[in-house]
Amino acid sequence: MYVCICAGVTDDEVNAEIAQGADSVEELGYRCGAGTGCGMCHEKLRALCAVAGARCAKLPVHAGA
Ligand code: FES
Repeated sequence: MYVCICAGVTDDEVNAEIAQGADSVEELGYRCGAGTGCGMCHEKLRALCAVAGARCAKLPVHAGA
């Protein structure tokens, strides 16, 4: 399912990036574009990171592009 509508990024794509080392919302933005638009998905991105054990759940987020 889509996690970031602005960038058209799915949860599978986000999880793949986390598995390959993405460890922040900002890093996910660089890698796949997720979270770089309106910012409404940042909470979902942090939740996916938290499930994966990545540290991005603890990092501040930026307001998007
Ligand atoms: S829904 Fe992800 S940046 Fe807008």
